Amino acid sequence: IDGKVMVTGGGGYIGSHAVLALLDAGYRVVVVDNLVTGFAWAVDPRATLVEMAVEDPSIRDVMAEHRVRAVMHFAGSVVVPESVVDPLKYYRNNTAATRTLIESAVAAGVPHFIFSSTAATYGTPDKVPVAEGDPTRPINPYGMSKLMTEAMLRDVAAAHPLNYACLRYFNVAGADPQGRSGQSTVGATHLIKIAVEAATGKRAAVSVFGTDFPTRDGTGVRDYIHVSDLAEAHVAALKLLVERPGDSHILNAGYGRGFSVLEVLDAVDRVTNLSIERRLEGRRAGDPAELVADNSAILRTLDWTPRRDDLDGIVRDALAWERALAERGR
Ligand code: UFG
Repeated sequence: IDGKVMVTGGGGYIGSHAVLALLDAGYRVVVVDNLVTGFAWAVDPRATLVEMAVEDPSIRDVMAEHRVRAVMHFAGSVVVPESVVDPLKYYRNNTAATRTLIESAVAAGVPHFIFSSTAATYGTPDKVPVAEGDPTRPINPYGMSKLMTEAMLRDVAAAHPLNYACLRYFNVAGADPQGRSGQSTVGATHLIKIAVEAATGKRAAVSVFGTDFPTRDGTGVRDYIHVSDLAEAHVAALKLLVERPGDSHILNAGYGRGFSVLEVLDAVDRVTNLSIERRLEGRRAGDPAELVADNSAILRTLDWTPRRDDLDGIVRDALAWERALAERGR
């Protein structure tokens, strides 16, 4: 494309990997991040970093200056239990801020928009694997805040010359296999991140939230996808949006198979040769029993093949990054 891709949240976990995937594919990138949860050092130096909130109206000037042709919008709040306690934070950061960002994109004439949506839009699915056409009934404010944005994009694309892709992420984990980025979030809540923190001595044990779910071993089942595969899916989505400007897409981003919490912890033990202490606890607010993607639509629609569908490999990459963070004192 003739111009740049704007990556909001490019200093964050998934955003920083998308920046790498875009740069590796030859795109030019401008990152917009307010650095509240992201890090300037996580942004590859080949990209331009603008420290700004996505809802700042002057983002239009950034779009014009860098001739932005597509926005990949990663910036947002991502912790399900936090959204239950502080729903307005989620409707502000995920819904209201995105509304303003979309308005800016329309005003600046940006033709393509890629949005980080979530499997949490489904709530508790009637059937697993869950497909894009299945009912969306979020059971937490996080999922609802993202679903509302999907609705805005649908309506905006019908009214303005913009097409979009919403990627509904399942459980993103792992780190850049080349060691250039990883999950650096302070106070992380995600299972694999927590487990590799325990493996490197950053925490004493891992809590298992819920042992009475209707699943094979009673613990929650999720579809863990390697962050670099997900990043490459964004690049493939961008290509499709450019090739077919009349079409928009909502696509599950997962591998189509699930692992329980205990299976994940077994993998971490296997990879590290440790036996990390597990503390069996009650369920967390807002957690469904099982979320696994029907990924046939994304496989059919995008020129994308997952290359890293391997739980032990995901854990190995996450662990390597965790060790690198520890060496750097982070
Ligand atoms: N879990 C534990 N102990 C922990 C952390 C998590 O047992 O210390 C369990 C959870 O209860 C759940 C599973 O591990 O069963 C995964 O939990 P995460 O917190 O890692 O992720 P979530 O499934 O809650 O949410 C993530 C993303 C959402 C996305 C969702 C889709 O944060 O954005 O995956 O499945 F919508």
